[in-house]
Amino acid sequence: MKKLHYIVFLLIFFGYNINAQNSDAQIEKKIDILLKKMTLKEKIGQMNQLSADDMETNFKVIQQGMAGSVLSITNPEIANKAQKIAVEQTRLGIPLIFGRDVIHGFKTIFPIPLGQAASFNPDLVEKAARVAAIEASETGIRWTFAPMIDIARDPRWGRIAESCGEDPYLTSVMGVAMIKGFQGKDLSDPSSIAACAKHFAGYGAAEGGRDYNTTAITERQFRNVYLVPFEEAVKKANLATIMTAFNANDGIPSSGNEFLLKQILRKEWNFKGFVVSDWASITEMVDHGFCTDNKEAAEKAINAGVDMEMVSGTYVAYIETLLQEKKISIETINEEIRNILRVKFKLGLFENPYVKGNTKDVFYKEEHLNLAEKLAEESIVLLKNEAQILPFNKSKTIAVFGPLADAPHEQLGTWVFDGEKNHTITPLKALKEKYGKDSNIIYEPVLKYSRDKDSTNFDKARKIAQEADVVLLFLGEESILSGEAHSLSDLNLQGIQSQLLSALVKTKTPLITIVMAGRPLTIEKEVKLSNAVLYAWHPGTMGGSAIANILFGKANPSAKLPVTFPKNVGQIPMYYNHLNTGRPANGSELNLTNIPVEASQTSLGNKSYYLDSGTQPLFPFGFGLSYSSFDYGKLKLSKTVLKKEEVLEISFTLKNTAQYEGTEIAQLYIRDITASIALPVKELKSFQRITLKPNEEKQVTFKLPITDLAFCGIDMKKKVEAGKFDLWIGSNSEKGEKVSFEVQ
Ligand code: NOJ
Repeated sequence: MKKLHYIVFLLIFFGYNINAQNSDAQIEKKIDILLKKMTLKEKIGQMNQLSADDMETNFKVIQQGMAGSVLSITNPEIANKAQKIAVEQTRLGIPLIFGRDVIHGFKTIFPIPLGQAASFNPDLVEKAARVAAIEASETGIRWTFAPMIDIARDPRWGRIAESCGEDPYLTSVMGVAMIKGFQGKDLSDPSSIAACAKHFAGYGAAEGGRDYNTTAITERQFRNVYLVPFEEAVKKANLATIMTAFNANDGIPSSGNEFLLKQILRKEWNFKGFVVSDWASITEMVDHGFCTDNKEAAEKAINAGVDMEMVSGTYVAYIETLLQEKKISIETINEEIRNILRVKFKLGLFENPYVKGNTKDVFYKEEHLNLAEKLAEESIVLLKNEAQILPFNKSKTIAVFGPLADAPHEQLGTWVFDGEKNHTITPLKALKEKYGKDSNIIYEPVLKYSRDKDSTNFDKARKIAQEADVVLLFLGEESILSGEAHSLSDLNLQGIQSQLLSALVKTKTPLITIVMAGRPLTIEKEVKLSNAVLYAWHPGTMGGSAIANILFGKANPSAKLPVTFPKNVGQIPMYYNHLNTGRPANGSELNLTNIPVEASQTSLGNKSYYLDSGTQPLFPFGFGLSYSSFDYGKLKLSKTVLKKEEVLEISFTLKNTAQYEGTEIAQLYIRDITASIALPVKELKSFQRITLKPNEEKQVTFKLPITDLAFCGIDMKKKVEAGKFDLWIGSNSEKGEKVSFEVQ
């Protein structure tokens, strides 16, 4: 009987694999056939992406077979019309692929990606991306330009909002989750949309946080930090497409970087999807001073391995001449078209080119909104909760102030082209509708928007605050102050928001500050003055409901910061996984207040730190409070000496010592103490979400494969190096008992 089972298993297993191979092989065969039939013009057309600005002209271009994709059509009728021209009125009937920036939701808007990363909950993040795909695909969109998995360590950079923060591991986990959600179980399902990991590569490291700026990342840093999430996306999530970046790294613009696109992406990682340039990043290679003109830009992009050109039209203009001049080869062109057609076949566009467009049944469905509320609850970080002021009970007079309390557009965040603000639940609306029955809620915005400098209503607010039991102050930044091209050099609260807070504090009424923003803001003073602080990022459509649920204890905060919060801009860049330096500071150094006057200069005992702001951030990576409190028991290791192929098990008991059920995100960090290159003082390698009832205690076990400790060392080869390691498990990157082990 057992034998029979085994045979059946083998048959199914190999049958399945043969099928899978066949389907891939079949696709390649279909491409071979198609490629043979295609004229050069038809080939060039596939490599050209149009923008949807002028559809009348586009229809003609499509009819001539000169477009492979259109970006940003959101009306299913227009999508079907364009598709009909491509499928029925061109010689070979190759379908178009419609792309769009569906970044954190299509209609139902989820928290900005940085907020989603704070949830440390890949399952929920995957579900959110699935919902985004379901809503977007109903309009014909089968390709999103997301996720952005650039490592972002500079909150001045407006696009940090779109990132998963500073850590390669967390960004990898979240990126993989998003891709799986967008692409679904099978790309050919009509609700699946191809993901596009961006920006390849290093874009988040722009000098001074100024968008589009220069980067200077070494090959080793690429391999150990910036490329890690991309490699994981290719290897673990079947990523369909990749977008190049705007930045020039070490003088080489990303759309002309053959080493990244060919050597690493294709040769080393065996990427089978296609590469699209970022908007006009090919022609911008002329501005970079890397190409004389657009023709040379096309040549360099094609030879570097950019398969499809987003909107700048150089491929259409110059491929023929470049071929005649032998600056590019037809083999390269064929390979690039093959990559594009492969994704189109996988999406099932040849069989299913049109869309039904049942948008009414799909947009803002109740289950989508419920998921958006849950993810917002799990993304909001409790930064301070003095004397357990939160959660508060219902019978109170609550004064609600601030420009973000009832700003339905602003709480949606950056990259919201399709979600409508009339669906937004603001905090004010949620407080009134969900909790207003037993509470007396008095609202006065005081400031109309975050940059407003009109203090006329300060007095009125003070009077209201004096009469209230508690003040809820909603501060932060408008959506448009973060996102692409919206970098800032000053991260203090905009306008006179901070003055408003100070004025309200004088009333002595307990004050809870809720910040909505696209990035970490420098809020040291405001945190000190507030009794409690919630950091809500831009929380999306259901953000207000999520905030109200947290304030009233219907939800217990569990989120942790995916990025370090500096005290001031001068501390940037500041990230937990930095190198130790030869002179690490320990906090006991002299500072501005205790350096003796006319102290003589010495280099002895000097350390790496700022005289005026020390070494500590305002909040470290991984930090976040809960209404529960968790006790970590002693860490027990399965072994202290391990071989490279072994798995280390670390166990401990975790106890919820409070009266609230809560979820703790336990984080495992390691340090490779000595290696062929200097490595970070801590690196996140794993985390777990553990939910505990009041006073409940659980045994928690982490399994750490030693292979996870691999990195690119002095010889640029990824491997584990033998030696001593420290390990911590704790509630944030600065906490946790330290234990040690050795790898032989
Ligand atoms: C430019 C942005 O950098 C990129 O992320 C986006 O996907 C494209 N524009 C298309 O909108």
